[in-house]
Amino acid sequence: MDGKGFKTKAVRAGQCRTEENEHNDPIFATSSFVFRDSAEAARRFAETESGNIYSRFTNPTTRAFENRLSILENAKFCSGTASGMAAILAVCMTTLKAGDHILAGRGLFGSTTNLFCNILSRFDIETTFISPTDVDDWRGKLRGNTKLIFVESPSNPLCEIVNIAELANVAHEKGDCILVVDNAICTPALQQPLELGADVVVHSATKFLDGQGRGVGGAVVTSDPDIADSIVGFLRTAGPCMSPFNAWIFLKGLETLAIRMSESCTNASKIAHWLNDQPKVTRVHYPGLANHPGHELAKKQQNDFGAILSFELAGGQHAAWKLIDSLQVFSITANLGDAKSTVSHSASTTHARIKPEDRERAGITDGLIRLSIGLEDTDDLIADLRANLS
Ligand SMILES: Cc1ncc(COP(=O)(O)O)c(C=O)c1O
Repeated sequence: MDGKGFKTKAVRAGQCRTEENEHNDPIFATSSFVFRDSAEAARRFAETESGNIYSRFTNPTTRAFENRLSILENAKFCSGTASGMAAILAVCMTTLKAGDHILAGRGLFGSTTNLFCNILSRFDIETTFISPTDVDDWRGKLRGNTKLIFVESPSNPLCEIVNIAELANVAHEKGDCILVVDNAICTPALQQPLELGADVVVHSATKFLDGQGRGVGGAVVTSDPDIADSIVGFLRTAGPCMSPFNAWIFLKGLETLAIRMSESCTNASKIAHWLNDQPKVTRVHYPGLANHPGHELAKKQQNDFGAILSFELAGGQHAAWKLIDSLQVFSITANLGDAKSTVSHSASTTHARIKPEDRERAGITDGLIRLSIGLEDTDDLIADLRANLS
């Protein structure tokens, strides 16, 4: 696939045809694989011979998805995982130990914050949250035991843009620290963090990679062979691997990724500009708006501005819920990255487990509404918002 364009790779990379010569990718719906004899089984287990053993270790459908995504991210390795959270957990479990410290962007996805604050903390791994946009602050907050910097860019739901290249320098100047970027919102169609210097990319394949809300899955992508090896070992042993059926769904999703992202970005941009002119909307968070603090940076490190945006209403939770509950076209659901546009109230759903004062500090106010823009007619989405905003 060297020299081929993104769309060609997204449709064709990673497939390994069987002797049946099928055109579409097959689903290997099997939990284990058969050995010719006991000696072959022993060689496979001893890893003196490569080959399939058991689908918690490897599966050809999952491998096809991993190969395709690694090619799209310009990476050497990719491991599919049971969910986006399993991908983040796998990275933490393999790169950290008790006594280590994480520096993370404030306003991360709620479960990621919860994982860092309430689960990893029990294993003596502490996390400090700081403004994702102030690179000097990151440098200042590094400790001797900081081993991992974790960011989302754009962040969910505020669409803050992190300077990935500068943050990679901060991590690498220290020597024993890695930069991990959650690329769920942009996908490789819009942004390739490894090219910008990140060490690891994590994905919630549940989102735009699938693109039709059909399955939960995730991925860890890296070009570092030691990290890749540890991830494979962790997934084999601890078990949060991707199911072959979901891998097949995500393979199908990748085929249309570029055109879906392009269409959703165009729709999101129109809606963000329209919302920006509405008197009842006090603030719109969308990097495609010239007044967004990360606009110039997003132009530099992304191909487009994304399909996620959020906006604030003055009346707090009451006003936000009232608007959300009256929408007819948008679905009220926690997922994003679907062909169907979705709406959610972050403070009472995805970010509800974060302490109110931390939520406030992160800018996730009670009047904030998050939209994930899909593939419907933009005019219908704007009409839905217009009818209920007035
Ligand atoms: C930015 C981001 N990262 C990670 C996740 C977790 O992904 P999953 O639900 O697949 O575990 C989500 C889920 O919404 C997300 O929005």
